Amino acid sequence: MNRSDLIKQAAATLHAGGLVAFPTETVYGLGADATNPEAVKRIFSAKGRPSDHPLIVHIGEIGELTKWAKDIPDSAWELAKKFWPGPLTMILRRNDTVCDSVTGMLDTVALRIPEHPLALELLREFGGGIAAPSANRYGRVSPTSAEDVYEELGDRVDVILDGGRCSVGIESTIVDLSAAVPRLLRPGSITKEAMSHVLGFSFEAAEGTDIRYPGGDPSHYSPMARVVLATWENAEEKLKECLGNGERVGLLASHLPNNFPPDAVWLRIKCALEEQAYELYHSLRQADHIGLQVLVVVMPENSGIGQALCDRLYRAAGLGFSNTINALERH
Ligand code: TXA
Ligand code: MG
Repeated sequence: MNRSDLIKQAAATLHAGGLVAFPTETVYGLGADATNPEAVKRIFSAKGRPSDHPLIVHIGEIGELTKWAKDIPDSAWELAKKFWPGPLTMILRRNDTVCDSVTGMLDTVALRIPEHPLALELLREFGGGIAAPSANRYGRVSPTSAEDVYEELGDRVDVILDGGRCSVGIESTIVDLSAAVPRLLRPGSITKEAMSHVLGFSFEAAEGTDIRYPGGDPSHYSPMARVVLATWENAEEKLKECLGNGERVGLLASHLPNNFPPDAVWLRIKCALEEQAYELYHSLRQADHIGLQVLVVVMPENSGIGQALCDRLYRAAGLGFSNTINALERH
């Protein structure tokens, strides 16, 4: 089938209430027609995700914002103009017509225009909003290739569009613009600083508050291997400790620390933070493919996209969001 027939088939599948996995620049999404509650329910059962967790609605044009959201602040239009299509999700007050199954009964809705040609073509052909979480089983590592999607969901998906490896590699930044004070809910490759630059004011991260942040579960993005976080100073010690317990151990790091134990496996990751984001989930999957029981990870620096990497790594280690912030201050 040629590309345009594939897109037509995928759009028809969505219209018929089916599930289509599609590439975005961040990770692969598991899509359904956002106006069809039965189709949306299938997303939750395919992922094994609790049904009260809200989904992101992917749209094709900025003008479609008003179909889904109301009371849209100027800041949302400014961020959309600057960063869409791109890895930014905005939480806005929802229109009354948006399905409860998409919003998890919240009075807000998450929206974004993804920046991937296949995703944009699919949105154009489908002609509506596509509700899509990351196309992984609940709590597991997000997929960054079509093969990963198949590994996660197999035949639970009706169509998988293959757009190669995702260029960003970690999920979009999420910013909540539904209240008077904008808040960062999930760090991503578009940083707080980049958004503050556009808006002319800085805003707070959600950590430390008790707002319900679905997906803010302490354990998330986890491979089967236990993830142990390390610094260059203590990596050797942590590797030896795990080896001493008889575990099959790997190290995810850009270079080898001094005295690297010969019975540990080195998973090499590039040094630049953008490259680390591109490779992180792929490397976590690789750790499972080669049967590691423990993966010691040297934490990246906490700047730019490094903040998002630290967030994902803390969750992969089961340490949660509030710990992320404390830990970020140490790294
Ligand atoms: O990069 C991405 O954002 C990918 C691609 C496919 O677009 N999608 C993704 O979706 O990461 P998901 O469902 O895995 O993560 C979206 C997060 C979830 O933690 C969800 O609970 C949260 O956004 N979310 C969605 N709607 C929300 C809302 N109204 N208020 C607060 N959080 C919301
Ligand atoms: Mg997810």
